Amino acid sequence: MSSHIIIKNKIRSFNKRITVSGDKSISIRCVLLASQAIGTSKIFNLLESEDVTNALKSIRKLGVSYRKFKKFYKINGYGLNSFSRKKKIIIDAGNSGTFARLVLGTLVNTKNIVKVIGDRSLSKRDFSRITNPLKKFGVNISSTNNCLPVEIEGSEYLRPINYYEKIGSAQCKSAVMLAAIKTPGTTKIKAKKSRDHTEILLKNLKIPIKISKKKKFDYFEIKGPSNYSGFNYNVPGDISSAAFFLVMTLLCKRSKLTISNVNINKTRTGIIEILNKMNAKLKLKNKRIYKGELTADIVAESKSNLQSIDCPKNINSSAIDEFLIIFLVAAKAKGVSKFYDLGEMNKKESRRLDIAINFLKMIGVKVSRNNNSIKIYGNPSLNLNGKYEMRDFQKDHRVFMMSCIAALTFGGNWKIHNKESTNTSFPNFFKIMGKLGVRLNWN
Ligand code: S3P
Repeated sequence: MSSHIIIKNKIRSFNKRITVSGDKSISIRCVLLASQAIGTSKIFNLLESEDVTNALKSIRKLGVSYRKFKKFYKINGYGLNSFSRKKKIIIDAGNSGTFARLVLGTLVNTKNIVKVIGDRSLSKRDFSRITNPLKKFGVNISSTNNCLPVEIEGSEYLRPINYYEKIGSAQCKSAVMLAAIKTPGTTKIKAKKSRDHTEILLKNLKIPIKISKKKKFDYFEIKGPSNYSGFNYNVPGDISSAAFFLVMTLLCKRSKLTISNVNINKTRTGIIEILNKMNAKLKLKNKRIYKGELTADIVAESKSNLQSIDCPKNINSSAIDEFLIIFLVAAKAKGVSKFYDLGEMNKKESRRLDIAINFLKMIGVKVSRNNNSIKIYGNPSLNLNGKYEMRDFQKDHRVFMMSCIAALTFGGNWKIHNKESTNTSFPNFFKIMGKLGVRLNWN
């Protein structure tokens, strides 16, 4: 049963240091890579959210054992050819587009048909972007109107492919990379810029991958098959979760927040670039590199003179999951903010661009739209005192959390449905809220 929360008061000033849970993208990649390593892997600070739990349950169905210890998960892999040969395996990816798409890349050499299913939201999302390139490896793969359920029957005779990834989707690029490490020969990929955690991990695992980065595209050559050994990994904090609290700090009065040990890989820091262009003055302290991933402590302070932005579209892919929350800053900034070409937002857990526009209109912010580009007419004195209700957003975790931040910083009397959606990516969301002094009513 769905539950809601009521928010009637703005958040009071705070000055705190917090940590956010482990990065979702890196957690899912670690689970999948560890499940096919030779030997035991130990993953510390693994995100314990539904998306990652579904990944863990799925590798168990594929015959991989794992155990949770106090500080880490131990995953026992037996190599690239070791997934279960049982018939009629069904993998339930739940809400996770990343897991569903990446796991398909690892299933190109399974013996029997494996069926991948998902929840209502995931079952509406396009899978042709994955099934088309995977077919070229020589596997049988079928879907229902390009959506889940997808059935995949692996092949013993995989062929390497040349793949041109045009969308800027890390999920597509990564699925092909995971298939490539199982495929004899050299798979070549030309990909529009997107998050690069998979290639960083492959390099760390000493899998033969050549990477050449050009201005617009990245080029890869992966030689397979290439087994690798079990590994240890300490997952850094998720900038996509940190984003909600960074924006909350900017938008409320006399507050300061430090978020320790956040991944600031530059393919993920579009939000920092955008907010700083809007005069947020976020600071990065204690920068360090861990296994090729840059991490830092991020410091945010309240800001009353936020400026609008004309957001260059080459930042889009590095902020794609954060635009919902960035739009709240634009609503409070001085001037008209412009964002371009955000069609991909409508292909996420919900139609996020449409929902964001309706949300902003509901709270009295003027928005104009031209296809997938929008203008937000900011109002620095935005202050709400009406009654608002948020429902029917496909239980999208990020829409839920964005709505909470709006309620806590803009004011008003709010009823926000689907509180349980935070479990998808950020189960500690309410605990951190509590630490920052928020007392929520819910049922
Ligand atoms: C992700 C890639 C992005 C992002 C998603 C996580 C990943 O999706 O929106 O939340 O971990 O690879 P696309 O690759 O479809 O852009």
